Amino acid sequence: ITVQVNKPGAAVPKNLYGLFFEDINFAADGGLYPELVKNKSFETDDHLIGWKAIKGAAGLSTYTISTQNPISATNNHFLRLTVATAGPDAGFVNEGFRGMGVKAGAEYTLSLWARRGPGSIGSLTVSLQDEKGQPLAQTKFSGLTGEWKKYTAVLKASATALKGSLQINVDGTGTADIDVVSLFPKDTWMKRENGMRPDLVQLLKDMKPGFLRFPGGCIVEGITLDNRYQWKKSIGDVAAREPMINRWNKEFKHRYTPDYYQSFGLGFFEYFQLSEDIGAEPLPILNVGMACQFNSSELAPVSSAAGKGPSASEPHDHATDDPTLETFIQDALDLVEFANGPVSSPWGAKRAAMGHPAPFNLKMIGIGNEQWGPQYLERYEPFAKALKAKYPKMEIVSSAGPSPDGELFDKASKRLRELNAEYIDEHYYAKPEWFRQNVGRYDNYPRTGSKIFAGEYAAQSVAIGSTENKNSWDCAISEAAFMTGLERNADVVSMASYAPLFAHVDAWQWVPDMIWFDNLKSYGTPNYYVQKMYSTNRGTTMLPVQLPGNAKNGTDNLFATAVADGSDIVVKLVNYSPTSRPVKVNLAGAKGLGKTGKATTMSSPDLQTVNSLTEPMKLVPQESTFAVNGTQVSYTLAPNSFTVLRVAGKK
Ligand code: AHR
Repeated sequence: ITVQVNKPGAAVPKNLYGLFFEDINFAADGGLYPELVKNKSFETDDHLIGWKAIKGAAGLSTYTISTQNPISATNNHFLRLTVATAGPDAGFVNEGFRGMGVKAGAEYTLSLWARRGPGSIGSLTVSLQDEKGQPLAQTKFSGLTGEWKKYTAVLKASATALKGSLQINVDGTGTADIDVVSLFPKDTWMKRENGMRPDLVQLLKDMKPGFLRFPGGCIVEGITLDNRYQWKKSIGDVAAREPMINRWNKEFKHRYTPDYYQSFGLGFFEYFQLSEDIGAEPLPILNVGMACQFNSSELAPVSSAAGKGPSASEPHDHATDDPTLETFIQDALDLVEFANGPVSSPWGAKRAAMGHPAPFNLKMIGIGNEQWGPQYLERYEPFAKALKAKYPKMEIVSSAGPSPDGELFDKASKRLRELNAEYIDEHYYAKPEWFRQNVGRYDNYPRTGSKIFAGEYAAQSVAIGSTENKNSWDCAISEAAFMTGLERNADVVSMASYAPLFAHVDAWQWVPDMIWFDNLKSYGTPNYYVQKMYSTNRGTTMLPVQLPGNAKNGTDNLFATAVADGSDIVVKLVNYSPTSRPVKVNLAGAKGLGKTGKATTMSSPDLQTVNSLTEPMKLVPQESTFAVNGTQVSYTLAPNSFTVLRVAGKK
């Protein structure tokens, strides 16, 4: 293998490896966003999701969901408890997100709004309990009055519980109203109020991601337009954000999670802040005026004011707010002002009021998630034009649809290239062999014009959409092989992200996923470590690589890519074969190399190896050293392995 150190190529894009975040598989509520109370404001369509009355022998309390004199017009449903005989049966329990994970000694901020009606109710007792109903912490809120008031306390858990719950008991008889119940860990990422779950953010930060794409995924589009993600509804006072049914709530491949809502506690402000916290460029993806084409295909009309005549598209069902394309375009323009505008601007002021007067420095926006066909282009064109007219430097990510090999996909890509779209977002979910066979996908791609954003990809061990898919080493090593092709074509491929990112072990809809977690713990899959090895060894300059005998990509199942990283030389090698393979790497033209290098390797003879909560480190990168002889490295690649060789050069 020859690495032409003396013939450096283009610079490696800074954002080559990044993250795709979508609220799927309980990735936000119940995952990254650590609020422990589900449906805290009783505002979901079925207002008692997550709550249940305590049913003891006495059964002496009744309840209703009331709207009489609510806390606010947007938060206008609350729980009204009527207690005839005082006792432990008079109360309600919140189940959390498949339980509440709490840690011994950790502190949780409890808050709720309450008021009393007729009767003698003077206080509420709130207890955090373990799976067996044993109290872990308790507090009493006294002095309830006839006016809504916020009560707060800090609960310190006396023991650890994976699936705890929160119980609210009414002391006395009569009526009590309860709303906006929150139990939020104090231990969040950077100790932020309304901050994120630290172990999950740490896994992300460790990857040194170039960008964070959010909020999806299909939830950008919604099943219908009513169900689309509207960023303006995701900012401001957390308690006032209206929940919405999650697009992944519906039955999907026999996985049904009817209790799946988006609380928007993790909203656009938090996404921007998270991007900043982990050093990633924010990449928001906005709805282009189309609901998911796998679902309703509902379309917003293209009006003349948006730069076109009336839509030639088929008739559409109107969303409740009946938005035209202009609404969507305006949302994008306002988002740029929210992210970057001065504090004196209307949207910049909202950002400042949330605690971030400095701009977020947004540079890229995606128009449409995974859309295709003429309906997409008809909306994309005026959308992109309007965005560029106001913000000429804003880079736009466009969509070419879900399949890399279909006719519609090719047509969309062609048109987008004619339009000089900056980035074309390609999505590929396919069998592991597709990834190994398509390493050369971008070798003959035009070197000028639109760049590629491989915005979603993952090898599927069984079949696309199968619930049997696993994050096996076979999938991960095949992705590693494919990524040699991305990196060798980094002059064309500017960004890439594995998808989906997160999954809760008890509440997933889609497999495979990069990081899995329960209510307390998390682990990276082999796919995670492959991504991390690429991202943390991204390098600065592309270096040409020749495989033995000038072989093409992956002949004999050997795949390679190389970069310079400042003065270091980094070679990535995939050996997709069950036997070990000795290789000689010639670092042609390199000067002043050290006598040893550092190898980071993942390998497993069994391609079906997976990590799990019980064996989180079963397959993870291992480090070792190797000898460097002048410009020559002799190294034996392990069977079924992905290896990164790093040699330090003269500084
Ligand atoms: O990653 C899961 C889904 O796959 C995304 O929501 C969508 O964009 C794609 O179809």
